[in-house]
Amino acid sequence: MARIGFAYNQKPEDEEARTGEDEPRADEEPPSSSRHLRSRIDASSPLASVIHPSPDASSGNHTDDEFAEWDSSETIGAVEHALSGLGEVVRLEANAEFPERLRAERPDIVFNMAEGLRGVNRESHVPAMCEFFGIPYSGSDPFTLSLCLDKARTKECLAYHGIPTAPFRVLHDASTHPGSLAFPVFVKPLHEGSSKGITERNYCRTASEMRDQVAFLLDRYRQPVLVEQFLTGAEFTCAVLGNGNETHVLPIVGMNFDVLPSGSLPVYGFEAKWLWDRPDEPLEIFECPARIDEALRDTIERVVLAAYHALGCRDWSRIDVRLDAAGVPNVVEVNPLPGILPNPADNSCFPKAARAAGVSYDELIQTCVRHAADRQGVALPSNAARARRRSVARAAASS
Ligand SMILES: Nc1ncnc2c1ncn2[C@@H]1O[C@H](COP(=O)(O)OP(=O)(O)OP(=O)(O)O)[C@@H](O)[C@H]1O
Ligand SMILES: [Mg+2]
Repeated sequence: MARIGFAYNQKPEDEEARTGEDEPRADEEPPSSSRHLRSRIDASSPLASVIHPSPDASSGNHTDDEFAEWDSSETIGAVEHALSGLGEVVRLEANAEFPERLRAERPDIVFNMAEGLRGVNRESHVPAMCEFFGIPYSGSDPFTLSLCLDKARTKECLAYHGIPTAPFRVLHDASTHPGSLAFPVFVKPLHEGSSKGITERNYCRTASEMRDQVAFLLDRYRQPVLVEQFLTGAEFTCAVLGNGNETHVLPIVGMNFDVLPSGSLPVYGFEAKWLWDRPDEPLEIFECPARIDEALRDTIERVVLAAYHALGCRDWSRIDVRLDAAGVPNVVEVNPLPGILPNPADNSCFPKAARAAGVSYDELIQTCVRHAADRQGVALPSNAARARRRSVARAAASS
């Protein structure tokens, strides 16, 4: 029976920090990791202001997003269930013990959904360790994962390949003028995802608004800020599956910003994702398949597939697209580790697109692993063979 390693990072839900690794030094304080110091540093310490950013909700900046990238026990359980359809699942939480456990367990293949502990290359750590130990794994390689977690480098690569993406600048200092970019602009942390640091305040109509928000983001997220031309058109997100000529786009997810509270911006940021959309009161923001004509659908698919291949994505990725004023689909960002919340009420776009294509959650995860296994010559049981084995086992147990 195949042994499927399962690499993930779990949000601290019921219990406190579960990572167990050594604490980072304050000067390395990376995105997504400041909690290690939080509990240890006295409020009177000079470090306290660095690692205890004051909640700033009154200004429109919501900062309670530290673990937004990591997965809940519900998602981890659902993925484990899906993987168990392919073999014996070996849980490998991507914490300090991960390297040793990976080496000791040596699964036949690792399903990777670990967002990583710290640093701008955090998403590449698990695949890099798999590569180091020669263990096959699913999804993109360390280089592509790091590349896509740098939104500016990603855009440089897209631009080189002639793939439309909004004009941009990277700011390291709030007083820098964004050159020839015309207002309004949209600003965002360079190395985040899951809408971390993305609020309505990031839409800036003037140089002074931009200065204030860039200063806030630089201080809060401790990383450069991307300033982009604001794309005024419709937004879509595209789930892509497969490799080579067989790569395909699942039904496109369109966003209907009309359902946002009146007066809000047409942006799918922290408010829309985590505050206004709740399982008990889901925001009906998505339509899948998006109601667009065939020509636009074809153009979006062409752009998205070109981006997927240009960036070296493998097995799966989710790509965000927005139309510019001329109606041209621009790539906003690429997510080689797409969110996969299992509960339809959670409005997770990749599973939503899969459902629209008639693909169940379990089939989606298994398809991703199968693409990875095919690429690397790993033998997995066919669905039929596995179902047969299960019914034989059931018959044996009942006799
Ligand atoms: N240049 C832009 N013009 C208009 N809107 C933008 C632009 N860049 C980002 N946005 C809005 O902000 C949202 C979040 O941006 P982005 O996708 O880069 O952040 P993210 O946190 O990485 O997203 P995800 O939650 O998909 O990981 C987009 O879905 C879009 O609504
Ligand atoms: Mg996005």
